[in-house]
Amino acid sequence: MIHQSVASCIGQTPLVQLNRLFPYKGINVIAKLEFLNPGGSVKDRPARFIVEQGLQNGTIDQKTHLIESTSGNLGIALAMVAKVYNLQFTCVVDPKISATNLQILHLLGANIEMVHVRDDQGGYLKSRIQRVQELLHDIPQSLWINQYANDLNWQAHYYGTGSEMVASLDGSIDCLILPVSTTGTMLGISRRLRSEFPGLRVIAVDAVGSVIFGTPSGQREIPGIGASRVPELSKQIEVDEVIYVNDWESAQGCRALVKYEGIFAGGSSGSVIAAIQKLLPSVPSPYRILTLFPDRGERYLNMVYDDNWVGQLHHSDAQPNLSTFTTKLPTFNKAELKNLNLLT
Ligand SMILES: Cc1ncc(COP(=O)(O)O)c(C=O)c1O
Repeated sequence: MIHQSVASCIGQTPLVQLNRLFPYKGINVIAKLEFLNPGGSVKDRPARFIVEQGLQNGTIDQKTHLIESTSGNLGIALAMVAKVYNLQFTCVVDPKISATNLQILHLLGANIEMVHVRDDQGGYLKSRIQRVQELLHDIPQSLWINQYANDLNWQAHYYGTGSEMVASLDGSIDCLILPVSTTGTMLGISRRLRSEFPGLRVIAVDAVGSVIFGTPSGQREIPGIGASRVPELSKQIEVDEVIYVNDWESAQGCRALVKYEGIFAGGSSGSVIAAIQKLLPSVPSPYRILTLFPDRGERYLNMVYDDNWVGQLHHSDAQPNLSTFTTKLPTFNKAELKNLNLLT
C-alpha cells in the first residue's frame, strides 16, 4: 500500500509480548508500540483525528489557524499534521521546553510563542493559557485544540488505538494499565476495551507530584506523564486503581525495558514498567496485562538515560519513595547500579 501523506501512516502499531522482562509462567504482559507512529508518539492519533474531524464537519478549513499550549508530543504531532493539511499552527511553549523539541517544532514549520512570565504558582501553565486566550482574540479564524477538555482527544483512542487492540488481541485480557496526563488515552482505550471485556481491571499510572487524582502537587521532571491541573476529561474517567511512580522508578523502568527487551522508549514507558513491577506480586496466575509505550527514547537521552541525571534523583530528598519499588524481577543488581553511578 502506498500512503498519500505521512498523516495516513499514523496508527496500526504492533503489539509485542514482553517475555524477556517478565518471564513468569502464566503472566503475559503485552505492549502496543505507540512510539512507532511517524511523529514519534501516541499523540499523533489525537492530532490527526481532531484535524480530520474538523475538516470533515467544516469546523476547520484552509483559513483555520490552530493553537495549542504544549511543549511536547502533541505540539510535534500537530505541527506534522498541520503541515500535511497546509494549516497554520501556533504552539505556545515555555522556557522549560527541551532544545530538541523546540528544534523539531521549528523544522515542522510551527509558529512558536514562548511565554516568559511565571504564574502565581511559580510555573508557566496559567501564563500559557492566558497567551492562548490572547492569540484566540487576535488571530482571525483561530481554533484552540485544548487537549485537556476536547472529547475528540479520547475519541481518537476509542476508535483508533482501542479498536486496533481489540482487533489484534487473541483472546481476552485481565488488566489494562496506562500512563495518564490529559487522561484522553486512558479514557478512550478503557471505554473501548470494557465494551469487549466487561470485567476488565483498569489501572492508571500517574507521577508522584501530579494532581490528577487529588494527590498533592510536587516536583516532577519527566514530561508526558502526570499533570499540574486536573484535566476536564478526567471527570469522565473510570479507573479501578492508580499506581504512583516517581522519576527514579521511571528511569529504572526505562533502563530495564531497553536492557531486557531492546525497546528504547520514553519516560512514561518506564513508569508503566515500574508500575507493573509493583503490581505483579499481587496478581493471580494466569493473568494478562495490556499496556502501551507512548514515545521513543531519543528525546530522553539527557534525562532518564543520563546517569548523572538519574544519580541526582537518587540522592534527592524530593524522591524518597524508593522503598515502594518492588524488584522481584530481572532488574539491575547492585553491581550494575554501581556501574551506572546510581549507587555510591
Ligand atoms: C510520553 C507520554 N506519555 C503519556 C502520555 C499520556 O497521555 P494522555 O495525555 O492521553 O493521558 C502522554 C501525553 O502527552 C505522553 O506524551
